[in-house]
Amino acid sequence: MKEACIIQLPKLLDNRGNLSFIEENKHIPFKIERTYWIYDVPGGERRGGHAYSDLQEFIVALSGSFDVVLHDGNRELRFHLNRSYYGLFVPAMMWREIENFSTNSLALILADNKYNENTYIRNFDQFLAIKNG
Ligand code: TYD
Repeated sequence: MKEACIIQLPKLLDNRGNLSFIEENKHIPFKIERTYWIYDVPGGERRGGHAYSDLQEFIVALSGSFDVVLHDGNRELRFHLNRSYYGLFVPAMMWREIENFSTNSLALILADNKYNENTYIRNFDQFLAIKNG
């Protein structure tokens, strides 16, 4: 099973401004079916609070910073994202929250499938029961 991990992206340094990019199935281990972004998050707010039964994501802090907190059923993993040239790969069946958004932060999220509420697990105890069987 795939593990959550930070993935470094290409970074072309240039006096005119730097450039990074993502190609599906190359820099990230899936084909991109959907892109969404989270922005204008009021101070102290959190997003997420769910797992997906069958969806993988890649999260990049395009601007500003935030923490992605994952739970794999046994332990919590915290990732601080604060650069646009790396991101966090999140496999299916990971409880995830995003918190500590800085002012004007912008979270870009690439997903390997369309939005489908049926893939969401929104109850942590239910998540643990499925995970730990
Ligand atoms: P949700 O995934 O719960 O947000 P977050 O995990 O960032 O807190 O989605 C919030 C609402 O937005 C929910 O009613 C479904 C809707 N939504 C879409 O319609 N399409 C999408 O691609 C996403 C991610 C959410």
